[in-house]
Amino acid sequence: MEQPARKFTVNDKMTLEPNVICVPLVATINRCNYSTENTDLKAVVAAKIPVMQERVKSFRKKHGETKVGEITVDMMYGGMRGMKGLVTETSVLDPEEGIRFRGYSIPECQKVLPKAPGGEEPLPEGLYWLLLTGDIPTQAQVAAVSKELANRADLPPHVVNMLNNFPSHLHPMAQFSAAITALNSESNFAKAYSEGVKKTTYWEYCFEDSLNLIAKLPTVAATIYRNLYRDGTSIGAIDSEKDWSANFTAMLGYDDPQFTELMRLYLTIHSYKIEVLMWLTKLRKEVGDDISEENLKEFIWKTLKSGQVVPGYGHAVLRKTDPRYTCQREFALKHLPDDKLFKLVAKIYNIVPPILTELGKVKNPWPNVDAHSGVLLQYYGMTEMSYYTVLFGVSRALGCLASLIWDRALGLPIERPKSMSTEGLEGMVGSAKAA
Ligand SMILES: CC(C)(COP(=O)(O)OP(=O)(O)OC[C@H]1O[C@@H](n2cnc3c(N)ncnc32)[C@H](O)[C@@H]1OP(=O)(O)O)[C@@H](O)C(=O)NCCC(=O)NCCS
Repeated sequence: MEQPARKFTVNDKMTLEPNVICVPLVATINRCNYSTENTDLKAVVAAKIPVMQERVKSFRKKHGETKVGEITVDMMYGGMRGMKGLVTETSVLDPEEGIRFRGYSIPECQKVLPKAPGGEEPLPEGLYWLLLTGDIPTQAQVAAVSKELANRADLPPHVVNMLNNFPSHLHPMAQFSAAITALNSESNFAKAYSEGVKKTTYWEYCFEDSLNLIAKLPTVAATIYRNLYRDGTSIGAIDSEKDWSANFTAMLGYDDPQFTELMRLYLTIHSYKIEVLMWLTKLRKEVGDDISEENLKEFIWKTLKSGQVVPGYGHAVLRKTDPRYTCQREFALKHLPDDKLFKLVAKIYNIVPPILTELGKVKNPWPNVDAHSGVLLQYYGMTEMSYYTVLFGVSRALGCLASLIWDRALGLPIERPKSMSTEGLEGMVGSAKAA
């Protein structure tokens, strides 16, 4: 007889066998890898690497010559969209469901990743654990990562001095990038590489550098914020009892616990752009907040007829509402349902998709992550739009760095897709050059 599926409730105190395959009560999730009890992230990753290396080796031996797709001329002119050309272990973009982190969609991650005590949003540290290991971490494992990050968060004096000496007209993102480059002084990998360590150990240095960088990015970002928008006031001290996002919001100078929750959600899922907010600001200026549907439609058609796009709508790959839009909308419905800007964004959600569909050429008329961008931050008082891209940088670091560690672990080479000139391509497909 078939064994009944094991069931459990998703809570913080579960103790499960290592890597047990199970069926949680959360209906949408049919697969759950839970980590071992080991709270040492590096050791957990180290144990997985030889297994994965072996898997890739034997897969390539068997299927190295297997074809996985065809490339058309349009794909080459279209930014390589739809071309299967890279291996990434940590996340995959699904056209219907949006991004999946190690197979888990955003709503699934929100359900199963550990939360801060009393909180409702996932801790980004847990996402990082998931990205690196493929396992949903326990509360204790996430707490261990939070502690490790807090302990590594200090900046070397030369970076602090550099940030404090930048002129205030230097864009926050330029400051952010410059600080990351200057943190090279702390790189374990750079040092080990120059000493000629074995290739098979590269990932270990990469792991340390990644964790150090993730730990230091909020400190860098908060220093920039204070210097530019808070008269250079001090970011204060790092609290090793606080999680990564809580330390970040405290350093930024925000003490609303709901803003910290927002930051946890944002750092887990997010990216920002400011075009949408600028467009909304223009809209509010022209027609006010209590805009009728008719006027709103008119404004949208005006945007389109002037040859502009409706910002925050459409996607190159995704074909549904971006789940990152949806979870921000849910956050807003929960915490700021009466906010004017949110209400406007919600109204636009009902009006834009039919208009874009009517245009006939837009492949995805649904909102992307940017359509909600900034609304929540503005509500909590973070109104400095040119800073949002720095938050994006802090958030994206989790994904990039987790992927980089696995690149090193699997010894993947530099990507070198073959590019061709139009002439070469015409020759290849036997097309005569246009006169
Ligand atoms: C995201 C985006 C760049 C994807 O582009 P894409 O892959 O070329 O999208 P499509 O294949 O659906 O585009 C087909 C046509 O519809 C148009 N279109 C797509 N989204 C549109 C929008 N939101 N408003 C108006 N027109 C749009 C494209 O400009 C293109 O027109 P063209 O053939 O005259 O050049 C595009 O949807 C866009 O510009 N959106 C608004 C800006 C935005 O939100 N960017 C952030 C993305 S995360």
